[in-house]
Amino acid sequence: MKLLFLALAPFAIWYALNALFYTWLPTNYIFDKDVLQKISQDVIERHPDGNNTALFIDLADSLIEEYGPKYVNKLNFDDWVFNNAGGAMGQMFILHASISEYLIIFGTAVGTEGHSGIHFADDYFTILTGEQYAAFPNQLTKSVYKPGEQNWMKYGEFRQYSMPGGSYALEMAQGWIPAMLPFGFLDTFSSTLDFITLGRTIFFTGRDMIKNLLQGKF
Ligand SMILES: *[C@@H]1O[C@H](CO)[C@@H](O)[C@H](O)[C@H]1NC(C)=O
Repeated sequence: MKLLFLALAPFAIWYALNALFYTWLPTNYIFDKDVLQKISQDVIERHPDGNNTALFIDLADSLIEEYGPKYVNKLNFDDWVFNNAGGAMGQMFILHASISEYLIIFGTAVGTEGHSGIHFADDYFTILTGEQYAAFPNQLTKSVYKPGEQNWMKYGEFRQYSMPGGSYALEMAQGWIPAMLPFGFLDTFSSTLDFITLGRTIFFTGRDMIKNLLQGKF
């Protein structure tokens, strides 16, 4: 009986989290995919000169104006971290992290390719500069996403993707964010052994999650 209970527990937990994903969890969301895309498009239009630094600063300031400094971190160039996951490697800055949402600038100066991961969340990837390519297993011609366009990867979907050097996006995820973290962390142990990056990523993510919990944002 005890063994049966232990074997069924993961399914019961998954069933509960899945039900909450469609009901209670969205009541905690503060970000809106369409607003993020509109803000991104406006910022892109204001920076036709290709200065990504100025574009990203303007983007973060615009997001702070829309959602408040309580929820969105001011951009700086000290707190960027690498992210290795699914065979891909990128650079990111955490604008917001809570239990049900995150908002980051993600991209690569060098270029990268890999597996998107399978997530307990909807993922909205709005291209800022460069391009993103993506394909499902049965898709023989890649999808191409350009600045201002938004690639919505739905809960449970997974794709191969790549980004040429100099491509960056505003990425927003809504769902069970802690369930996404192992995908972002485990390459440290199986491959990179970059515990500096791991430590910094856990610090920035944890600090934001706790800050948001304390101000009532789940
Ligand atoms: C790009 O923008 C940043 C921030 O506004 C500025 O400090 C830098 O000088 C600019 N770079 C170029 C090449 O114009």
